Order: sequence, then structure tokens, then C-alpha cells
Amino acid sequence: MRKVRKAVIPVAGMGTRFLPATKSMPKEMLTIVDRPVIQYAVDEALEAGIEHIVFVTGRNKAPIEDYFDVQPELNDTLKRAGKSKQLTELDALQLPAGAVSVTRQQSPDGLGHAVWCARDLVGDEPFAVLLPDMVSYGERGCLSGAMELYAETGGNVITVEECDPKLTHKYGIVGKGTQIGTGFEVTEMVEKPDPSVAPSNSYINGRYILQPEIFALLGNQQRGAGGEIQLTDAMHRLMEVQKFYAAPFTGRMFDCGSKEGFIQANVAFAFARSDIRDLVLEPITEMVAAQEIRSNAA
Ligand code: G1P
Repeated sequence: MRKVRKAVIPVAGMGTRFLPATKSMPKEMLTIVDRPVIQYAVDEALEAGIEHIVFVTGRNKAPIEDYFDVQPELNDTLKRAGKSKQLTELDALQLPAGAVSVTRQQSPDGLGHAVWCARDLVGDEPFAVLLPDMVSYGERGCLSGAMELYAETGGNVITVEECDPKLTHKYGIVGKGTQIGTGFEVTEMVEKPDPSVAPSNSYINGRYILQPEIFALLGNQQRGAGGEIQLTDAMHRLMEVQKFYAAPFTGRMFDCGSKEGFIQANVAFAFARSDIRDLVLEPITEMVAAQEIRSNAA
């Protein structure tokens, strides 16, 4: 079984749900506590054993590239100021030279098209995809669970969670087959189905391990839901010749592409940090209590 070394992270989306903040800043650079959203996806990929990150960017996304580059002037300033703690933290986050590639999605044609843009950088080997809006929270990252199942099954692996059955039209939904190892075999796959025709309420939560044969299918994939080239549609075609398995994620995924998910993630990650938890837990608890009194009085 070939090792999964590379991860594709699509970051071309405009982030209209976060206007006006995203007028001049990529949504992936919004911070959860003190790290940009994109850092969480990269950390999760590295934890799962990924060695090379391929960013599929778009116009106005240069701050993401700069963020992952070395900043010698900043390092010098920190050194002169004796801020060794900050320097050590930045050093620990620095990806090795040559471990990041960047390509651009020239037009907003959908997730399938974004992944296809990475075909030459990935080449002929299995690879991971992480949708960085979906921020994984738990003892270990969501992609590590997918890697574990991949070691058991090979083939293609996607990670899933259960959604409210009324909300299947927001996600890629899979049909559930036989239990295998820590997951199950996927029998069906459909992008954003109406609840009346959805094969289950198991939704694809944004992590994939795919075989390189997906690229040829993406190259001639017809537009699907929302008029976009959908990754789910190409995976559905690949299912005719290759197996797909689903790894249920046991942690919690925050959809940081939505305001509510982003705020919840900030609270959850702040509470998980020993240096911040006590500074925010009590004030937030008090504010929540006060709000409860106000809404009760209304
Ligand atoms: C994309 C995928 C969908 C998946 C979702 C998870 O949809 O196409 O299959 O369930 O991400 O967030 P999007 O959110 O881009 O509409």
C-alpha cells in the first residue's frame, strides 16, 4: 500500500460569509484564539503523517503564502528584543523548505475543480484533502482517524459524521454498508441531496484520502449541485472501479465557514488552552448567565 505523503488544502474560496473582514483578508487567516484557521488544518495534516502541503489558492490569498514562509526581519526583531519564547513558537511552526507548494484555481468552479488543479503537484500517488473551514477538535485530528482506516482497508477513505436528517441538502451524503475495522464501506454517495432522497444522514465532513485515478475523472466531470464541479460526483464515478470507506469522526468538527461555528471554535479552543482557560471561562460563564436573565425577563 502506497504511503499518503501529500495533502491538498483548497483555500481559494472568497469567504463572503465573513464580509467585511474578508474584503482584504483571506478567511483562512481569521484567528481561532491566536492562530489562523489554516494553521489548524496544517497541524492536523502533519499529525497524520503528511510531509508535503499543496495549497490551491486564488487571487488575494498571498497572506497565506507569506504566513508559511520564513520572516527573517520578524525573527531578527524578536531576537533583539529577547522574545525567545515567541521565537521558539514560530520556529516550531515553520514547515521545512520545499514542503509547501502553491497553485492557483483561476475560476470559482467548485471543490472538484480546485482538487483537479493540484494534479501535477500531487502526481501519481494517493493523497489527502482537508477542507480548512472544517476545524477538527478532539484528542486526535480527524485525518489521523482516516489514516488508521486507510492502513486497514487501502482504497479511498472519507471521514463522516451524522447530521440532522433535515440538513442533508447542505452536505455530501454517503450510504452505509458493511462495518469494516474502525469504519464502514460506502455504498452510495450524493452531493447535497434533498432529505427525501438522502441515502442516510452520514455526511462527509471534509477529510479525504484519495487514489490518483480521481484526477482523470475530475478532468471531465460535468457540473453538478450549485452549477459547480463537485468532488463528490467524481468520487461517485470512481466508486464504480475502486472501494470507498468511511471513517466516523469521534471528535467534534467546527464549521468555521459559518459565524456560529467560528465563534464556537474560538470558545472551545480557548477553554482547551491552559494559559487562557481561566482568563475567559469565568467572564464568559457570567455573560451567559446574565444573558439568560435578560432573555427570561423579555
Ligand atoms: C463541501 C463538499 C461536501 C461536504 C462539505 C463539508 O461542500 O462538497 O460534500 O459535505 O464540503 O463541509 P461545501 O461546504 O463546499 O458546499
